[in-house]
Amino acid sequence: MIAVAIDGPAGAGKSTVARRAAQALGYIYVDTGAMYRAIGYAMTEKGVDLSDPDAIAENLQGLTIRLGFEEENGQLCQHVYCGNEDVSGKIRTPEISLAASKVSAVPAVRSFLLQLQKDMAKTQNVLMDGRDIGTVVLPDAQVKVFLTASSEVRARRRCRELEEKGTPQSYEEVLRDVELRDYQDSHRAIAPMKPAPDAVILDTSELDLEGSVQALLRIIREKVS
Ligand code: DC
Repeated sequence: MIAVAIDGPAGAGKSTVARRAAQALGYIYVDTGAMYRAIGYAMTEKGVDLSDPDAIAENLQGLTIRLGFEEENGQLCQHVYCGNEDVSGKIRTPEISLAASKVSAVPAVRSFLLQLQKDMAKTQNVLMDGRDIGTVVLPDAQVKVFLTASSEVRARRRCRELEEKGTPQSYEEVLRDVELRDYQDSHRAIAPMKPAPDAVILDTSELDLEGSVQALLRIIREKVS
């Protein structure tokens, strides 16, 4: 089995770039952020205090998070389920982004998802994206890439996405969220976001989507062949 680990900060274009690369390679694309978002969503719905790790750990009991892959327009699309509810659409809000970042710092949440993520790479070729894939989840991945871009570029891209979705936010507000999430994700005690020592750093600040996909594919093909 081949595993490609893609890590990097919020808004670096990881999911779009990784999805496109996975499709070109015929690998399954696994977005682990969606799993943390689903837990953030479940905790928010239950009204759990997100600053209370014990309450979060307690409320994990009985929770099932599952990824399903369904063919849509000739592509395998990931759906994330919380119990039987498909929450794929509901987890893509600024509120759930911050909730996901908070719950992801709780050790019980990380161990809850770790085995699930490891198991997915056992039976199929995967391109998995997250924050700790190269360092913790798949330390033996054949290819590790840390995909990043400056916080200003990432905030600008995010603003464009929010505008297209019809939920615009000011650049200043988006930049603040991006920087807050970077700080939370890279300063937590457990599995902080950082490049694995053997990761290739890919900075997409100066690249468009197509350029980023091609750069990522070049790195993967070089390592895999
Ligand atoms: O990639 P994303 O923005 O959808 O991720 C949502 C949050 O989940 C992010 O702030 C950090 C966390 N996360 C994590 O801690 N580890 C991962 N492997 C993936 C995401």
